Amino acid sequence: MNLDFYTDPEIAILLNYGDVRRTLDEALVDLATGRASVFPRQRSSCGDIKLSAMGGIWPSRGVAGIKSYPTVKGQFSFLISLFDIDNNRPLAMLQANEITRLRTAALATLVASKAANPGAKQLALIGAGLQGGAAAEALEECLRFNEICVVDPAIQPFALTQLTSRLKAPVRHCTAEEAVRGADIVVTASRSKTPVFDGAWLKPGCLVVAIGTSLPDGRELDDETLRRAGRVIVEWKPQSMAEAGEIVLGLQQGALNVEKIVDLAQIYRGEQPWRASGSEIVVFKSVGIGLVDVATACLAVEKAGHHPRPRA
Ligand SMILES: NC(=O)c1ccc[n+]([C@@H]2O[C@H](COP(=O)([O-])OP(=O)(O)OC[C@H]3O[C@@H](n4cnc5c(N)ncnc54)[C@H](O)[C@@H]3O)[C@@H](O)[C@H]2O)c1
Repeated sequence: MNLDFYTDPEIAILLNYGDVRRTLDEALVDLATGRASVFPRQRSSCGDIKLSAMGGIWPSRGVAGIKSYPTVKGQFSFLISLFDIDNNRPLAMLQANEITRLRTAALATLVASKAANPGAKQLALIGAGLQGGAAAEALEECLRFNEICVVDPAIQPFALTQLTSRLKAPVRHCTAEEAVRGADIVVTASRSKTPVFDGAWLKPGCLVVAIGTSLPDGRELDDETLRRAGRVIVEWKPQSMAEAGEIVLGLQQGALNVEKIVDLAQIYRGEQPWRASGSEIVVFKSVGIGLVDVATACLAVEKAGHHPRPRA
């Protein structure tokens, strides 16, 4: 058997934020209508080492797959095994650090393109590492900003210079309060397990996109953000309700009620709007779902010309 293996540098050449965003939109339409499914994350640990697996089935594209990864000293190493379900055989193995970076930023951008108020011009980025930098790039490409305020007390000067050179809008390094008070969109992508800004600073109508921790005992958003939010959008309730600290702790501590939580499948089915009004504060809490990894891996294999089923 000849099994293709794709490395991160190869995937970086094959994929871009826009194409991934459009593919995720199609996968979510299928998830909402029962034509795709999510394999929820499983985690196991031994001492300080964690091993996780998550995946999805996407029959309309002829694929199913699993992303697996150990977490060692806080660092991830992602690998996707993709199956051709028309012929029920392994299709490809993909190193998936680049896929994870791209799909997280593309999903944040897909949600922002629908849930942010039209004409959003000011972005606050809290946590400007790998995911934060990608989110800023992908959002800017789709939405355009007048200014991007970066909050990252530990960022090295050369990393800030590098990020600034990748972005078109002027970048300002500032405090969380300055950044959040002026923002139409706030992205949090830190590794913090405690809130990174005060929800009292949010402007009415703001969209908050929280990408950081997917552990139920950590949270980047405070109670005030959850209290002020009109809705908290999550990817997929069965996983998010168990994993997202904002949801688990917010519900436990009474800052959030369950009626405010909506998932992407409900929105794609038209049961819920992206936002109720221009002044509503909307939160999108992302933990990452495996269907999104599988859809992105499928796109990479298609773009490489190795997918056995031509796109309809
Ligand atoms: N939602 C998803 O699908 C998804 C996917 C991958 C990673 N993640 C999560 O995203 C987070 C970021 O991952 P990464 O790979 O970009 O990490 P990273 O280490 O590259 O970047 C994190 C950045 O946050 C900064 N930071 C830490 N505390 C901060 C604070 N209080 N205020 C502002 N900045 C702060 C750090 O200085 C660092 O630059 C992690 O929690 C990771 O688990 C989520």
